[in-house]
Amino acid sequence: MKINYSLITRRTFLNTLFGGWIFAMLSGSLYALLKFAFPTLGKEPDFVVLNANDFLNIPPNSVKPFAWGGKLGFFFKKENGTTTALKGVCTHMECNVTYKPELKKFYCACHKGWFDQDGKNIEGPPPKPLEFFDIKVENEKLIVARKGFKVELPKA
Ligand code: FES
Repeated sequence: MKINYSLITRRTFLNTLFGGWIFAMLSGSLYALLKFAFPTLGKEPDFVVLNANDFLNIPPNSVKPFAWGGKLGFFFKKENGTTTALKGVCTHMECNVTYKPELKKFYCACHKGWFDQDGKNIEGPPPKPLEFFDIKVENEKLIVARKGFKVELPKA
């Protein structure tokens, strides 16, 4: 069977094929370049080491932010003086949360999600509690680690 009329010309077909090939090549190069320039982008560490003096003396009922890879972490001192650390990222769609000391709750402004002081999701769309970390103080270092991760620092 012979086709008399085509919906696309040979030139259009070849141009589309060549354009797609160029686009794929540039996308791959751009991705490799971004991964080289920002190697930790999107990755979360197993632990971070912070200067303990910068964090342990914050007032009760307050938080101090730190970088958890490319995400927000909070060192948190409750009103009774107990300390903990958590990821300051909402469990709904990963917006950053803020601490509201007057209400003693964490708030996500993206879709009005609320978490209590223990990170439990209490209102709005967040489906699960905030993620807490293990903390340990060693030689004036504050070690914040993923729950259950064993950190071995080199001896000085
Ligand atoms: S991202 Fe926090 S409530 Fe939606």
